[in-house]
Amino acid sequence: MQNTVVVGAQFGDEGKAKITDLLAMKADFITRFQGGSNAGHTVVANGKKYAFHLIPSGILYENKICMIGAGCVIKPDDLDKEIKDIVSQGVSIEHIKKSLKISPLASITMKYHCDIDGYSENALGSNKIGTTKKGIGPTYTDKYRRSGFKVEDLFNKETLSKKIDIILPLKNKELEFVYGLKPYTKEELFDECEHYRKILAPYVDFNWQDNLNEIKNNKTILFEGAQGVMLDVDYGTYPYVTSSNPIAGGAAVGASMGVKTIDRAIGVFKAYMTRVGEGAFITELTNSTGEKLREIGGEFGVTTGRPRRCGWFDAVSAKYSVLVGGLTEVALTKLDVLDNFEEIKVATAYKNKNTGEITKQYPTNVFTHSEFEPVYETYKGWMSDISKCKSYNELPQNAKIYLKKLEELLGIKITIISVGPDREQTIFV
Ligand code: GDP
Ligand code: IMO
Ligand code: MG
Repeated sequence: MQNTVVVGAQFGDEGKAKITDLLAMKADFITRFQGGSNAGHTVVANGKKYAFHLIPSGILYENKICMIGAGCVIKPDDLDKEIKDIVSQGVSIEHIKKSLKISPLASITMKYHCDIDGYSENALGSNKIGTTKKGIGPTYTDKYRRSGFKVEDLFNKETLSKKIDIILPLKNKELEFVYGLKPYTKEELFDECEHYRKILAPYVDFNWQDNLNEIKNNKTILFEGAQGVMLDVDYGTYPYVTSSNPIAGGAAVGASMGVKTIDRAIGVFKAYMTRVGEGAFITELTNSTGEKLREIGGEFGVTTGRPRRCGWFDAVSAKYSVLVGGLTEVALTKLDVLDNFEEIKVATAYKNKNTGEITKQYPTNVFTHSEFEPVYETYKGWMSDISKCKSYNELPQNAKIYLKKLEELLGIKITIISVGPDREQTIFV
């Protein structure tokens, strides 16, 4: 298998983990490169359902290395809970200790990052982003403002002490005077860091430079994205986005192995669309059709349990995703969810409600999105159960027509079709 990056191509929750888990079978090394425990990644394997947040979705296989890369942010208590949860499902802790590696360069989410996330969301009121309140934005903010803690900091008491002295005075001012939150003493931060050190210690790979050189030269690599292109901090529906780069290019930065290691970029699209949190969603259906999609698709967040907003496939934003996401092929998931729809719609353009102008360009200023309505093409549904189809040829004619149309609109090939959550419910084209 070529080195592959799997990214979400819509608003997250496209079924990336299912695709990663499948491709992981043929990879040696699976790495996350951005995001944190805001992600909720479901894998169904051997009849069991697992929810991953930070741990790469390749962890269920023996003899593979799974890495949480430098571009990720880690909330150690969340990781600890995630490990305990999968151990309670029968994965051995010895296996996790052998397989899971953490980059010393990944960023640490401190308690105050979560407090700031919660405070900011409340303060924004009706303009809130709808974050997962996992402290993701404030952690990345501190990283880019050069006042964050990295995993390696936890393991050197002397430099940690110096770093706390540099970071704490300004952070306390911010906590107290901007947010009205509790300031920290140096001792408290030290204790928090020590607690995190103990959680992370078994997994941190201090020999990562040698190890990644070996992997880069001799092994097959799978890069696992979190979130999705339309949540990218540079290209998504800003400011209703996450704070990292879920595009394929993000892997070149966040996995510490550069651009040349990536051969293919698979964009995972749902056969319709969903979004959790706030922000524009031009093809959103707030009617019974949207509810039907939510119910059949089981569209509730893995991390927060929030109901996902549902709508038809938006080919305008999808084409934009192919471009800015750097996608080379498509994995289309949840096609089976459309089994009982007489009609299926796809937005192929937007109409400006004020001027009547039709556009196929994605309008990047989301504050103008209320001016647009989708221009739909309608396709006949197949009205039959496709969840047991094993090959492209077994799919009903109307499903094939729908797939062909999507390929035509996106300009790249659909190479994987998913017709159910299980590993077996997958068609490789
Ligand atoms: P991710 O964040 O992109 O990994 O996706 P999530 O795990 O948040 O959400 C995808 C959901 O859809 C999970 O419950 C998956 O088990 C499920 N799923 C994935 N592929 C399919 C599919 O082809 N059909 C159906 N019905 N469910 C799927
Ligand atoms: P996976 O990897 C769907 C959304 C949040 C919010 C915005 C910012 O499972 O696809 P954040 O907590 O990141 O600051 O929230 O991004 N969001 C996701 N939506 N799937 C995810 O991850 C998401 N991670 C963040 O709902 O709108
Ligand atoms: Mg998810």
